[in-house]
Amino acid sequence: MTSQTSSVPSIQLNSGGTIPQLGFGVFQIDPEETEQAVHAALATGYRSIDTAAMYGNEPEVGSAIKESRLGRGEVFVTTKLGNGDHGASQAKHAFSQSLSKLALDYVDLYLIHWPRPNEGRYVETWKALEELKAEGMVREIGVSNFTEEHLEKLISETEIVPAINQVELHPRFQQHGLRHFHDEQGIATEAWSPLAQGGLTDDETLAAIAEAHRKTSAQVILRWHVQIGNVVIPKSVTPERIEENFELFDFELSDEELSQIDGLDRGERIGPDPDQFG
Ligand SMILES: NC(=O)c1ccc[n+]([C@@H]2O[C@H](COP(=O)([O-])OP(=O)(O)OC[C@H]3O[C@@H](n4cnc5c(N)ncnc54)[C@H](OP(=O)(O)O)[C@@H]3O)[C@@H](O)[C@H]2O)c1
Repeated sequence: MTSQTSSVPSIQLNSGGTIPQLGFGVFQIDPEETEQAVHAALATGYRSIDTAAMYGNEPEVGSAIKESRLGRGEVFVTTKLGNGDHGASQAKHAFSQSLSKLALDYVDLYLIHWPRPNEGRYVETWKALEELKAEGMVREIGVSNFTEEHLEKLISETEIVPAINQVELHPRFQQHGLRHFHDEQGIATEAWSPLAQGGLTDDETLAAIAEAHRKTSAQVILRWHVQIGNVVIPKSVTPERIEENFELFDFELSDEELSQIDGLDRGERIGPDPDQFG
């Protein structure tokens, strides 16, 4: 398999490890389509795959990685703890199920998928993830969909500061306050639905910037994420788009273009509210 991965920068994590700044997301990819999509991503040069127990496609992600014949150390694999598995013993059991479905002997990054504050068990759950890390079963531990309030509670009651918080983030929902808090705490920001699920491709500001660089609006959005320091994990089942979304490292947005994109923020979520979901 050819490798163009040298063009993808790595982001330094507070643990001392790193994560590729660009990865490939597999949410809403049917299991039957997943192996082909991950195969196309790995062939294009992506070396980071983002799945979750709740996506129902961990076995197919694992098979595509195995089929690629890439060394285990060459692919960064993220999976996430499902919402029904909060609690110390459930979390450990759920992790071993994910590992077995992926057919791996460790995962690079394990995330609590949603905080479920009404259930109130994310601190206990996090302590189980700390143990999995100490046992060498996961290289990095992090969270997803945590607000500043959830993170503050977690940090004050546990040992390890999450390496990453994976949250909804795109030009219409830029999360300035949370990103600033992450920077203060040394937490890397990972953007989910980075393309707003394809909903911004006919925005005029983005289209004009894209034309100036002979790029697409999607590439401009993803380049914006890269330049503001986010880890980004676009999803596509379309081979041309999988390649398009990888071609981000041969152009640069000016400060003026970055501030035009900053001006698109509407504080509008497209996904669920983390205080309510799950
Ligand atoms: N932690 C969480 O709670 C959470 C929640 C949501 C997502 N995620 C993660 O984040 C990843 C990405 O988020 P997402 O899948 O919701 O949305 P997204 O990556 O923002 O957008 C995916 C959509 O955009 C389309 N698309 C992709 N590339 C395009 C391009 N170059 N031009 C035009 N349209 C394009 C795709 O269509 P086609 O596939 O038809 O090409 C698909 O409909 C997920 O796969 C998952 O790994 C995490």
